[in-house]
Amino acid sequence: MVPVLLSLLLVVGPAVAQDTQNRPYSLTYHSNGVSKPKEGFPSFQATGYLNDQAFFHYDSETEKAEPLGPWKQVEGMEDWEELSKFQKARGDFFLKNLKDIMGYYKDTGNHTFKGTFGCEIRNDNYGGAFWKYAYDGQDYIKFNTEIPAWIPLQPEAVNTKVKWETEGSVQASKNYLEKECPDMLRSYLQYSRPFLDRQDPPSVSITSHVTLGLIRTLKCVADNFYPKPISMYWTQADSVVVAETWGEGPLSENGTYQSWEVVKIPSLSRGPYSCHVQHSSLAQPLTVTWNKSQ
Ligand SMILES: *[C@@H]1O[C@H](CO)[C@@H](O)[C@H](O)[C@H]1NC(C)=O
Ligand SMILES: *[C@@H]1O[C@H](CO)[C@@H](O)[C@H](O)[C@H]1NC(C)=O
Repeated sequence: MVPVLLSLLLVVGPAVAQDTQNRPYSLTYHSNGVSKPKEGFPSFQATGYLNDQAFFHYDSETEKAEPLGPWKQVEGMEDWEELSKFQKARGDFFLKNLKDIMGYYKDTGNHTFKGTFGCEIRNDNYGGAFWKYAYDGQDYIKFNTEIPAWIPLQPEAVNTKVKWETEGSVQASKNYLEKECPDMLRSYLQYSRPFLDRQDPPSVSITSHVTLGLIRTLKCVADNFYPKPISMYWTQADSVVVAETWGEGPLSENGTYQSWEVVKIPSLSRGPYSCHVQHSSLAQPLTVTWNKSQ
């Protein structure tokens, strides 16, 4: 029993360990404040992300932080009541700052303030963090963890820097980003790895249509895959055909991506043309071929 198990571990062990070791994980928060929301719309909203997946949303109308997607099913990862209270306090702080900033600019009316911050772990070690704010879509202030200090990105932001650095502690902010955030991420990962490490293989299909009589458009679509990185290319008789256009969709409702690549060929050409797709879920590239007799 032992030798068999050992040899299995030797075969399976290194590949799996390397794969999960090198994979980075991130926890990021996006917050959004607006000074004059439309009637019935929230003045403050926040969304939390684990990697590219939103796992909770809070808004100031419901005053509730609620789990999203597969996290609705997860028990024990987060105390949503506590998070709701915390987000409410953050929202109040956020909107108070928006009001102050409008004062620095002598602005009235409808203005926006956006904040994003987060951290990353690689190999279970701290792998970086950021914290920044934008006013009316323009970079306003960001945190530098090396100094540590708030760096104004607009002349008016000097006021915010002075306020935050006297009322709060830059050391506490640094500690939050480099220690508390990665610890929180590690604790979330205990519940979230299956969603983040998911490998959904693409389904690949080709559509064809003739435009202007002389040109045929071939579109290769890779659908319903996760994670996002994918590589697609077309070949004819072993030479790569340069794509005319390509694109990708956002993360869909069910947590998968779509990507496509289009080539234009003479409408009389019989092919064959092949679309090749490489993705981490596939042991080898997937190839789908089009030719005119089809
Ligand atoms: C203020 O701006 C925000 C963001 O652009 C927008 O969603 C909101 O509807 C605006 N408020 C009004 C009253 O138009
Ligand atoms: C995602 O949704 C699409 C339709 O919107 C469906 O065709 C596909 O099978 C779904 N994928 C997964 C992984 O559930």
